[in-house]
Amino acid sequence: MTRTLTITSPIDGSVVGTVPRRTARDVRTAYSRLAKAQREFASAPLAERLRVTKLLATTLLENRKKLADLLVREIGKTPAEADTEVIRTADIVTGTIREAKRQRPEVIKDAGNPKRRQEVGRMPLGVVLAISPFNYPINLAITKLAPALAAGNAVLWKPSTQGSVVATRFAQGLYAAGFPRQLLAVITGSGSELGEALVTDPQCGMVSMTGSTETGQWIAGRTGAIPLFLELGGNDPAIVLADADLDLAAKHIVGGAFKLAGQRCTAVKRVYVVRSVADRLVRKIDAEVAKLGPAGDPREHPIGPLVDDSAARRQRRLIADARKRGAKVIRGGTVHGRYVEPTLLDKVPQRAAVVREEQFGPVLPVIRVKDADEAVRLANDTEYGLQASVFSRNAKRARAVADRIDAGGVHLNGPDQRGPDNFLFTGHKGSGLGAQGIRFALESMSKPKTTVTNR
Ligand code: G3P
Repeated sequence: MTRTLTITSPIDGSVVGTVPRRTARDVRTAYSRLAKAQREFASAPLAERLRVTKLLATTLLENRKKLADLLVREIGKTPAEADTEVIRTADIVTGTIREAKRQRPEVIKDAGNPKRRQEVGRMPLGVVLAISPFNYPINLAITKLAPALAAGNAVLWKPSTQGSVVATRFAQGLYAAGFPRQLLAVITGSGSELGEALVTDPQCGMVSMTGSTETGQWIAGRTGAIPLFLELGGNDPAIVLADADLDLAAKHIVGGAFKLAGQRCTAVKRVYVVRSVADRLVRKIDAEVAKLGPAGDPREHPIGPLVDDSAARRQRRLIADARKRGAKVIRGGTVHGRYVEPTLLDKVPQRAAVVREEQFGPVLPVIRVKDADEAVRLANDTEYGLQASVFSRNAKRARAVADRIDAGGVHLNGPDQRGPDNFLFTGHKGSGLGAQGIRFALESMSKPKTTVTNR
């Protein structure tokens, strides 16, 4: 008798669905089945691999409304965020197929021997373990599945518990569309129960994981010498210089900090503003936050619930700590169940927990600094290094500040974000390992294979 997990909605606690609570034995069985099928799939012509990959996009588009509705109910996304996730993901599949068709082996010549040349091609890795997070349960799974399949791998997909209903319903649609079941296994269940079996199986050829820094570092410590892609936490700073366009900065900071109720690794998590313009910037940010209105049902409000009670408790703790350290609550500051009022904190000290930790909620601290040098020093004073943004009308000055920030990507006068999806996306320090983005993901899901000819 398979045990099950009941998944409820963060919106109102209603039951979204039930999924199997798989066991370590199920994991081992899945790996064996996938590895066997992958050995044959590895030698399939590219056209066959891409035909299989394209079924991901077909299934997304044919089930667009059903999947979007599930993303609203299971994750608490707004209908617009949910629909965008489905469409964006179908585009990523199409882009992956286009890139796979474009790729050609590189030829390197021996300068000392015109008859000898090396051809550098790519080979699949085997079975890819894809671990996807709750905040993009479809997008951040298929950004792994598509390149993995296009490169000739099979996939064991472990969705986050919150997100496992939409994952299993998507997989059912995929199989119904004729996708070869032997190339994809969806393993739902408790990460703590399954983690060891998932990452240490000898048939695991690669781990691609998006999730918390803590889990990513645990995985890195447990896998053998196999390829890893880790997209982990972020604590993205926005630096606003004295000559910045404050209206532009306020718009992008608020959009970046509060989209998806702040539950994005690339959310703006901290604002460093030069004191001379701080009062004006805080007023402008506050006016933008006010437009969001109260947190509520995401079908009627731009700011929905957090994913679970512990996330909401964390916001309450961070706000209380900031207050205790002298921060000023400009707006919000209250938590009702899983609903956190969009909160703006001013004059927050660097040592406040909301600055040191990744809040992953709609709470934005503003830290006032003397100048760009202090902003850079404090921005780099973190275990994370995902992204950052710098606002200044002087492009040269903005670039000079950006070059001093230790992060995988810096946005000048624009919002932190992972897309567009052909861009390289990576994290430094505790924010991850490896690169995402269509071409880069394809490369990460394969290994080089060279052939040298001598005549
Ligand atoms: O938190 C997931 C991370 O990939 C954010 O993606 O597209 O919202 O910047 P995005």
